[in-house]
Amino acid sequence: MTDHKIFIKTFDELTTLELHNIYLTRGLVFTVGQQITEQEIDDVDLVCHHLFSTNDDGKVIAYLRMYDLGKYADDSHEITPGAWTIGRVAVLNEARGTGLGRRIVAEAIEWIREHTEAERIEISAQKYLEHSLYGKAGFVTEGEAYQEAGIEHVHMNLVLRENR
Ligand SMILES: CC(C)(COP(=O)(O)OP(=O)(O)OC[C@H]1O[C@@H](n2cnc3c(N)ncnc32)[C@H](O)[C@@H]1OP(=O)(O)O)[C@@H](O)C(=O)NCCC(=O)NCCS
Repeated sequence: MTDHKIFIKTFDELTTLELHNIYLTRGLVFTVGQQITEQEIDDVDLVCHHLFSTNDDGKVIAYLRMYDLGKYADDSHEITPGAWTIGRVAVLNEARGTGLGRRIVAEAIEWIREHTEAERIEISAQKYLEHSLYGKAGFVTEGEAYQEAGIEHVHMNLVLRENR
């Protein structure tokens, strides 16, 4: 388990260099690494919270974004009142296998629980992580697997608090 500091910032709080480094890492992981050809940067980047960790050179080694599905949709999600989502979960190749992915997902869940009124977190998860990264964080699969961006996905749900 690494002790790298975790940052959580809105788009306006990011420095231009941080934003550059975030887009570099997402491009490396999803476009170069997974060969996803769908547009990677989108308008959700303007309204989400960006959670990331850097190395000593400022390189973003781990990243995810989280946002209110009651207000915003993207290619993977419809507007869903009461739910937040986590997406673009990425750890650079050089930093994988040390628990960093698990840590950023756990930090995101805690941040959403503490800072929002969300009843649950709904994600579109790559199926190969269903029982490891996401299942062990408490997410439960709903429905059948489906293709998204050419990769098998499952819808997963984590209840934070009962509907009031
Ligand atoms: C998925 C990813 C974020 C994991 O980062 P990481 O720092 O290596 O993850 P961790 O070391 O914290 O491992 C967390 C869990 O994920 C599992 N995991 C990681 N890579 C895996 C793989 N290729 N296949 C299956 N499980 C994997 C680990 O085994 C671990 O589960 P375990 O405790 O049951 O062993 C990273 O591999 C990545 O960026 N992948 C490409 C992008 C991607 O798939 N993002 C997720 C989109 S939904």
